[in-house]
Amino acid sequence: MKIGVYPGSFDPVTNGHLDIIERGAKLFDKLIVGVLINNNKSPLFSLEKRIEFLEYSCKGIPNIEVESFSGLLIEFMKNKNAKTIVKGLRAVSDFEYEFQMALMNRKLNPEIETIFMMTNNKYSYLSSSLIKEVAKFGGCVKGLIPEIVEKELYKKI
Ligand code: PNS
Repeated sequence: MKIGVYPGSFDPVTNGHLDIIERGAKLFDKLIVGVLINNNKSPLFSLEKRIEFLEYSCKGIPNIEVESFSGLLIEFMKNKNAKTIVKGLRAVSDFEYEFQMALMNRKLNPEIETIFMMTNNKYSYLSSSLIKEVAKFGGCVKGLIPEIVEKELYKKI
């Protein structure tokens, strides 16, 4: 069984993430969305909420599982018998950090491969942090995040 993992903080999930999830799911028998627990960034949404948003938004895709993890990604992958990390690339600015992480993960476990998917150009400027900032100052984020997230984001902020 070909299992991939798409890891991230998903604080909150954006339509850019969902685009990668939908396309990534077609490449694997199962794609696990790995939600990071130990996040130094002190997330706006609790782990439970971040998972709920993802599960709700992915309910039409049968081969997606949403799971949390802490510690090293490659340990999580080993436990799940997954061999491929899926990452989205938005712009050149993402490249350096992603390249570093991919090489470190390969050093830690040479059997794990990282694949990069180009983001949909509709969402190439999107990030969870930018969404939170725009919402905080009353800007409109309609069409950039799932509706369920939009409602809760404004309530929260
Ligand atoms: O959405 P993010 O915050 O950009 O995701 C970053 C994430 C979760 C993919 C990365 O921080 C990660 O893999 N963390 C787990 C800890 C780990 O394995 N660190 C070493 C990576 S080289």
